Amino acid sequence: MNRTLSYDVLIIGSGAAGLGVALRIADTAKVAVVSKARLSECSTFYAQGGISAVLDAQDSIDSHIQDTLDAGAGLCDEAIVRLVVSRGKASIQWLLDQGVTFTEVESEDGEKQLHLTREGGHSHRRVVHAADATGKAVEASLLDHARSHPNIDLYEFHNAIDLITAAKLGDSPQRVYGAYVLDREAQHVKAFRAPAVVLATGGAAKAYLFTSNPDTATGDGIAMAWRAGCRVANLEFMQFHPTCLYHPQARSFLISEALRGEGAKLLLPGGTPFMHRFDPRAELAPRDIVARAIDHEIKRLGVDCVYLDISHKSADFIQGHFPNIYASCLKFGIDMTLEPIPVVPAAHYTCGGVLTDSRARTDIPGLYAVGETACTGLHGANRMASNSLLECLVFAQQAADDLRRRLPDLPPPPTIPCWDESQVTDSDEEVVVSHNWDEIRRFMWDYVGIVRTDKRLERALRRAELLKQEISEYYGNFRVTSDLLELRNLIITAELIVKSAMRRKESRGLHYTLDYPAPNQSRPAENTILLPR
Ligand code: FAD
Ligand code: SIN
Repeated sequence: MNRTLSYDVLIIGSGAAGLGVALRIADTAKVAVVSKARLSECSTFYAQGGISAVLDAQDSIDSHIQDTLDAGAGLCDEAIVRLVVSRGKASIQWLLDQGVTFTEVESEDGEKQLHLTREGGHSHRRVVHAADATGKAVEASLLDHARSHPNIDLYEFHNAIDLITAAKLGDSPQRVYGAYVLDREAQHVKAFRAPAVVLATGGAAKAYLFTSNPDTATGDGIAMAWRAGCRVANLEFMQFHPTCLYHPQARSFLISEALRGEGAKLLLPGGTPFMHRFDPRAELAPRDIVARAIDHEIKRLGVDCVYLDISHKSADFIQGHFPNIYASCLKFGIDMTLEPIPVVPAAHYTCGGVLTDSRARTDIPGLYAVGETACTGLHGANRMASNSLLECLVFAQQAADDLRRRLPDLPPPPTIPCWDESQVTDSDEEVVVSHNWDEIRRFMWDYVGIVRTDKRLERALRRAELLKQEISEYYGNFRVTSDLLELRNLIITAELIVKSAMRRKESRGLHYTLDYPAPNQSRPAENTILLPR
């Protein structure tokens, strides 16, 4: 049976980045969007706080740029920051045009306007939101539009395995031809043939034991691009969100930074505030500072968690602004209108990724990377809250504009060989996959977490190398499953994170090491760029 499907553009991932590209290019191209899980299962869906954009008369593009540069600790690309920030208003308008409903308030003269909340690092109120479930509102509208577009085919439960490139088929010059994709329900591998492929696979925070991310965040796009020969950058900058719910039954539930934006205080178990001891901005300092402060206090006191308290606000205010968080906490027996919420930091956002230019192009002609899987230069050494969804939207447009220009000149890829399963059998040792998966996430948390040392990184590298070899042998012998594919990507991404961290002999932004506790001031800050082979 021929299992090859041909399209103009193959998009891997159905979050804000993937659907953003699809909707912007579909009027001129036939598009396939593949998603390894349910279409809506992605970080976008779980985004809470909102999307940053300069909309307030008191605010300015320059101020948003400056805040982003400050958070990025010397590593943002200023031209990219300007590009993204200056498109904030238009991006929000595009979402409104797609039917997204954001929270509104009445202005003094009785007009409805978008409510703007505040988050760490932002010097103004500039975060547009849909109560505390912004991502759900965005994802639902984008999916509705994609579902009804005649030029977009959506493939749910389709897990991309590897990119197909000219080099892999022994052709030149190098360009992308498509990807092999496991249809998880039918249990067979299809070839998607396309002259342009967009990686929109999200981040890699599942490499850590504790994370705010859904299960999809296993660094697949980063690993696929790396295997195909693309450079990756700044992977040592893994962002830890300061406040995830601490409860034995709560699996990765975020307590939005918008709570702190609206006045919530961080408290030690005895009820004492502590953030003012670490930064004059206290609870509204950038995330790296808040997460490190919490980590420090937890270790210093030997406690399990700290507390986030917004109970001084009225119950009406809390339930109105944070209905999703209120209901979720209540399910675990915590009434946040009356008591503080137990919180801990968890891996949240992958600032580094596949290196791209300002049009989302990677090192391989025809291959684009958009959203959390990419490293565009916007975030530098630390992402400011709510800048990520904005980046997804702006770079989706950049990629679509470039695709529109280039597609007419891209020749169709040649015939693609079918996926070869002749040398493999079904695994009888599934336990190897789950064991290795747990081991990676544990050593990454213990050795490559919020606070690092050279020694811990060396330990992590030794484990990563051993596991990589074991997983590679396993991959070579057994039929692919979704879990095995994720494990194979996770170990590559974990190793890249460790190697990037080992290269940075200083503390900067999200990378903090006890061996070099300050930024290196003797030379200009540099990105960490890893070259394949
Ligand atoms: P995602 O939305 O994660 O989508 C990735 C897609 O790729 C998924 O469809 C997945 O199934 C698919 N995929 C992955 N690998 C494969 C594969 N091998 N084959 C096929 N499909 C694959 N940012 C903000 O700006 N504001 C916020 O308020 C905010 N809140 C957040 C709250 C939480 C709990 C989390 C986890 C993140 C939050 N972020 C927020 C970050 C932001 O949501 C993400 O960075 C952003 O949504 C990433 O979008 P994306 O499209 O790049 O990836
Ligand atoms: C949050 O709501 O705290 C998450 C915001 C973000 O990650 O940008």
